[in-house]
Amino acid sequence: MGKKLYFGSNLKMYKTIAQTIEYLKKLTELTKDISRDEEITLFIIPSYTSLEDASREIDHRLCLLGAQNMCWEEEGQFTGEISPLMLNEIGMDLVMIGHSERRHVFRETDIEENRKVRCVLEHGMRALLCIGETGEQKEYGISPEVLRTQLKVGFHGIDPSYADRIWVAYEPVWSIGVNGTPASADYAEEMHGVMKECLREIFGEAGDRIPCLYGGSVNPGNARELISMKSIDGLFVGRSAWQADKFDVLIRDALSAARATGK
Ligand code: PGA
Repeated sequence: MGKKLYFGSNLKMYKTIAQTIEYLKKLTELTKDISRDEEITLFIIPSYTSLEDASREIDHRLCLLGAQNMCWEEEGQFTGEISPLMLNEIGMDLVMIGHSERRHVFRETDIEENRKVRCVLEHGMRALLCIGETGEQKEYGISPEVLRTQLKVGFHGIDPSYADRIWVAYEPVWSIGVNGTPASADYAEEMHGVMKECLREIFGEAGDRIPCLYGGSVNPGNARELISMKSIDGLFVGRSAWQADKFDVLIRDALSAARATGK
């Protein structure tokens, strides 16, 4: 049996509560025969308003649920923010921090992401830190430096004992969304190699256990090749995951491709 692979989706600012519940029910029903102990970890990150209902209605063993963002404080004068206590209260399994849209549309910095990641971990949830270089940074040939900076600042001061609750998603900014170009599997693998080495520098041996997922225009045409790469531990999918039946097919295809390569 190969290692467990990660498949998840961020629903961004799409789907109402009713649509989210319908999607989650269909997805868990379709995929329930795939072993969560040995084959996959499945996770979905819906919008805030759907989280409470989703958490109550969905079997968390089949699908972990996450929030798209979180404040670094438990309470206070932070209008419009959501606290870790509020996410704990509704049973969140994970929190995504530093998605490219948070960094580039809402101007979040690495230092803010670090405060958020620490807060997520201190409150017992898993932290999924998203990192990735812009197209311009890639042009300048500084992608490894950018990724290393995002990891080193993002995980600054975090004890290696937390490593088992840390996940990383590599999502190059130029690859995300309708105008994105997917990264080639070779390029993604090269960057994942940089990340894995850096995680080992930060956390020592515990860093080897941190799953690194690729995201950015993952689709039925490239999922198999990407997941077959040695250093890619999972796929973080946007648009190609938002119909449950299509995501189910993508997961099964990717899983069988990875297993065929001995992964
Ligand atoms: P995409 O989104 O797959 O639609 O490019 C990826 C993401 O933003 O996580």
